[in-house]
Amino acid sequence: METRISEIADGIYRLSNSVESAASPDGFTFNQFLILGDEPLMFHTGLRKMFASNRDAIASIVPPERLRWIAFGHFEADECGSMNEWLAAAPRATPAHGEIGCRVSLTDFADRAPRVLSDGEKIDLGGGKLVRFFDTPHTPHGWDAALVFEESTRTLLCGDLFTQFGDKSLSLDGDIVGPAIVAEDILKYSALSPGMGTTIRKLSVLRPHALALMHGPSFRGDGAKALVELGDEYDRRTRFAIDQLDNRDMGRR
Ligand SMILES: [Fe+2]
Ligand SMILES: [Fe+2]
Repeated sequence: METRISEIADGIYRLSNSVESAASPDGFTFNQFLILGDEPLMFHTGLRKMFASNRDAIASIVPPERLRWIAFGHFEADECGSMNEWLAAAPRATPAHGEIGCRVSLTDFADRAPRVLSDGEKIDLGGGKLVRFFDTPHTPHGWDAALVFEESTRTLLCGDLFTQFGDKSLSLDGDIVGPAIVAEDILKYSALSPGMGTTIRKLSVLRPHALALMHGPSFRGDGAKALVELGDEYDRRTRFAIDQLDNRDMGRR
């Protein structure tokens, strides 16, 4: 497997692995992000089977043992499956995640004690890089779901939000929502909770200049507009799903 590297914002690197997909001829990507600084942070560890390729890719940017923080969107194999391999490779690295994820999973799973982050908490990485952590429970899925925003570049590391097919590294065409809706129709990966639309729209106040997708390209443009559109779309989907269930159940009575 070859991990492709691109710098999506100043000092933020996308490490991308492309795979074939049974659901789309365009294929699918698994992306990890490295934020440099005095204390480099990696967002997503990648699958265990991708560890060697990701490690070699990071080594071309920074010695892996310099990693200080390992964060991720939620507890799932692609987001954090190779965490313990990274903790072994980087003796100073500490996993960092929200309270739910730490209590439910990391205190048992991680080989080193995690740092528990509260909603909105900041980590100063040094070198001008500052990340903020935001809880997004059940959005798009996972009780422990969370996102990270890097303030100096206004980059939102979106985790599974906006998931889409294809192996483009960068999207500048302004349409990051349409392909995400297509992928949602096919994969149905989101939990569709009543708070989902609001949770996504609230992120728009960050006014991100870049959206870094775990599955899909990185987007440069009006991130706030895209987040509002995506939140509205999930509200529509949730209402539609409730109406369908109501109609079905009423029909049985
Ligand atoms: Fe996920
Ligand atoms: Fe994912």
